[in-house]
Amino acid sequence: MSWHATILTLFPEMFPGPLGVSLAGRALREGIWRCEALDIRSFATDRHRTVDDTPFGGGAGMVMRPDVADAAISAAMPDGDARPLVYLTPRGRLLDQAMVRDFAAGPGVVLFCGRYEGLDQRVIEARGMREVSLGDYVLSGGEVAALALLDACVRLLPGVMGASESAVEESHSAGLLEYPHYTRPAEWQGRAVPPVLLSGHHAEVARWRRTQSEAATRERRPDLWNRMQVAGAQAPA
Ligand SMILES: C[S@@+](CC[C@H](N)C(=O)[O-])C[C@H]1O[C@@H](n2cnc3c(N)ncnc32)[C@H](O)[C@@H]1O
Repeated sequence: MSWHATILTLFPEMFPGPLGVSLAGRALREGIWRCEALDIRSFATDRHRTVDDTPFGGGAGMVMRPDVADAAISAAMPDGDARPLVYLTPRGRLLDQAMVRDFAAGPGVVLFCGRYEGLDQRVIEARGMREVSLGDYVLSGGEVAALALLDACVRLLPGVMGASESAVEESHSAGLLEYPHYTRPAEWQGRAVPPVLLSGHHAEVARWRRTQSEAATRERRPDLWNRMQVAGAQAPA
């Protein structure tokens, strides 16, 4: 059974979009995963196909109606569908590699993409939606966040990445950022490759890479670095 992604969106034409090419596109054609986008608007019941309304309590913008969203979710998830239902929102928990690994290990995901000011809170609670954020900034809709989440999951599915694209050493796989990469030419515009990488000493290369990973993480992402220190301190000796 292939990994199954269903996207609920007002813009189904955005899918698979960039996921139709390269690694994810090949995996899609090979049936390793499948992707369907349902148009939330097709679940509106009035003549004008309305999906939003003004916010109770006043304020700017419009809110996505719970009844329309709920009908779309029912169509996407037949009874017994074990896939997590995710609402992409800047109010959610930040997407990280552990969450991606978790989603990729399951049967797939159902992703609800908000627009306007977002979705009525009652349907989020009634459906037990997992609220997930792509980052601490506001996008105009959940679609770009959904594409990012799917891309991160699909590359982890068995058979998608070859050995040359291994996920074992990359950034976030062990809580650290990855070390820097170099390729030919060995000297470019007066800049030489770090000599250790040309030395042929595997243990020294590994040590250098580890030091570079640690330095980059400490400098650029003190939040990750501190989490590593705490986890290390708590690990059994
Ligand atoms: C303009 S945003 C609404 C932002 C909302 N009023 C707020 O301040 O939290 C419209 C939709 O884009 C999506 N979105 C925006 N930023 C996002 C982010 N950082 N991560 C995931 N989804 C996001 C959500 O689905 C959201 O409902």
